[in-house]
Amino acid sequence: MTESSILIIGAGHAGVQTAVRLRELDWSGRVVLIDPDIGTPYERPPLSKELLKLDTTEEVIPLRKDTFYEGQAIERISGTVSAIDAVNHAVELADGTRLDYTTLMLAPGSQARKLTCPGSDLPGVLSLKTREDARGIKAVLTRGARIAIVGAGYIGLEVAAAAAAAGCETTILEFQDRVMSRVTSEPVSRFFEGLHAEQGTSLVFGAAVTEITGDGKVEGVVTADGQTYAADAVVVGIGVVPMHALATEAGLKAEDGIIVDADSRTSDPDIYAAGDATRLVWPEAGINRRLESIQSAVAQAVNAANHIMGVTTTKREVPWFWTVQHGVRLQTAGLRTPEDDIVVRGDAQTAPFSVLYLRDGKLAAIDTIGSLKDFTAGKKLIAAAAAIDQDAARDMNIKLSEAVRELASEAQ
Ligand code: NAI
Repeated sequence: MTESSILIIGAGHAGVQTAVRLRELDWSGRVVLIDPDIGTPYERPPLSKELLKLDTTEEVIPLRKDTFYEGQAIERISGTVSAIDAVNHAVELADGTRLDYTTLMLAPGSQARKLTCPGSDLPGVLSLKTREDARGIKAVLTRGARIAIVGAGYIGLEVAAAAAAAGCETTILEFQDRVMSRVTSEPVSRFFEGLHAEQGTSLVFGAAVTEITGDGKVEGVVTADGQTYAADAVVVGIGVVPMHALATEAGLKAEDGIIVDADSRTSDPDIYAAGDATRLVWPEAGINRRLESIQSAVAQAVNAANHIMGVTTTKREVPWFWTVQHGVRLQTAGLRTPEDDIVVRGDAQTAPFSVLYLRDGKLAAIDTIGSLKDFTAGKKLIAAAAAIDQDAARDMNIKLSEAVRELASEAQ
């Protein structure tokens, strides 16, 4: 009989964590990580932050040292999986290699969404996903360079901060009417807009890009209202597309992401999935969405390995996210919806302040701007589904952990 093998497609945060956890739980069979860019898997957050700073020669930070993989007998194969043969428990690589599996983990991640307008493939139109992309962007951030950024999400704003700090003439073109509209509420958007404007960045809202102009190299960006923004380089940060084609071709359920449950199981009992490529459907936790968060990817990986190894505890992490722009840190815990009631804690013009999102009076999510204390307390209150005393919560002099209402006494 051949040795049991767990194949892991994708060596990002989710893939590597699966391998790590399997060995922690004493999985004794083969563990094989497959990725076209296998090298030494690395941390993603610094790519749009520290790596873009001019005064740093910092290289990528490895997730684990090479000696770790060797010591734990975690094999790394450089290659692209071109097909999954779920019936026969095997994958095929683009070079024709066939590898058998006992259990398969899909952690292929996501791809940067591309502009589709004329000129969008001109040299100088850049996106940010890998360390090579980060190096390419850093190379164009020179003093006086005109940098147009399409999209005011995490990538667009973090790159804009780096560009402004490098002395570039920076313009952000955002389709919506405020920054980070996917992830936060208006008071937080307005605060960060002010911060970027103070640093000399122009923000244009309602901007629909219709063309990138240039002759052999980008020269400008045209929007639907007929405006042209001159540009030496364009950075596109308009979201990501989950990599679920392999999974759907293999017959797995997917809908804007490979559908997984709380234990990271797909619709095939021997295939798990984690990370950006997945849509987590977990009715008890009120979650049915793609999470696009490293912390969630890591929790999903742990849950998959636990389930494979028969460990019954499911790690339920309050999803959290963070970004840093012009030295100001935005930390988010929980998942807000546009219908939530908003409570602003402190003065939303000046950091530190926080914004609480209440659902049925209970804390569902929080954005903290420069307040680690509120973030830590908020995460715990979200996990406890704590009912919030709104007046107390508005007052920064009262600890957030004390701004709670007793539900039991009210119910009497
Ligand atoms: P995003 O979804 O955060 O933001 C995309 C922005 O582009 C949105 O504001 C959207 O309205 C805008 N947009 C979409 N189409 C547009 C168009 N045609 N023209 C102009 N604007 C348009 O995605 P982003 O910033 O690209 O980030 C990609 C991924 O990387 C996300 O998964 C994000 O979570 C992750 N990331 C996270 C970071 C963090 O947590 N600090 C840092 C960098 C990336």
